[in-house]
Amino acid sequence: MPDTKELFNKVAKHYDKLNTIFSFGLHRIWRKKLAEKLSDGINVLDLATGTADVALEIAKQHPNSKITGLDPSNKMLDIGNIKVNRKNLQDRIKLILGVAEGIPFNENEFDYATISFGIRNTVDYKKSLKEILRVLKNDGELFVLEFAAPKNILFRPVYLFYFKNIMPLIGKIVGRQKEYKYLSESTLAFPQRNEFIESMIDCGFKHCKYEELTLGTVILYSGRKN
Ligand SMILES: C[S@@+](CC[C@H](N)C(=O)[O-])C[C@H]1O[C@@H](n2cnc3c(N)ncnc32)[C@H](O)[C@@H]1O
Repeated sequence: MPDTKELFNKVAKHYDKLNTIFSFGLHRIWRKKLAEKLSDGINVLDLATGTADVALEIAKQHPNSKITGLDPSNKMLDIGNIKVNRKNLQDRIKLILGVAEGIPFNENEFDYATISFGIRNTVDYKKSLKEILRVLKNDGELFVLEFAAPKNILFRPVYLFYFKNIMPLIGKIVGRQKEYKYLSESTLAFPQRNEFIESMIDCGFKHCKYEELTLGTVILYSGRKN
């Protein structure tokens, strides 16, 4: 696995634009759906926060929430901070450098943890899950958004062709073919559906479940500390 911090520093400049192109704008709907699962007046840790879109969506939907966004890529966070400042949300959203495998907070601090399209980029995702469990409060809950290959036998080959060929090609146009090739390959290699649920259970999460979004191309997983 390449150094994902450096990889995301390299793609940061184009990240938001390419996210919209690759997902045909659907990434906004996925994030909205994730934020709808949370309640207001809460303390949230958004891991792999990147350019802070999940943190901003939670802040918008839950006006009394406080969000900490954590990410190892300073360039992604720089863009996130510009967006947070533009919306005057500096008192509610704090972005900090860090990795999910070693979260710089004490036990039982957060009502919710969220991680959107980031768990697969961590070096050790099981270690990350255990760390997330540690910092959640006893009644805390984790929500994870991640890509998956659809099961439908007609749609699956189209999707796989798009993911393996078109995504790296668009990456090439912005001079980042290698990075986008890795991102598409790492997505397809990462555990999906019940396999990921089993990892969550192994790491100590309870009441784990998932729902499929957009024809099963994206999965929203959840699990509770107790
Ligand atoms: C595909 S981006 C997702 C960003 C954002 N959550 C979103 O939905 O747009 C993946 C993010 O994971 C971050 N990342 C990479 N390794 C990580 C780690 N070990 N712990 C936490 N975040 C990590 C990257 O820096 C990058 O910002």
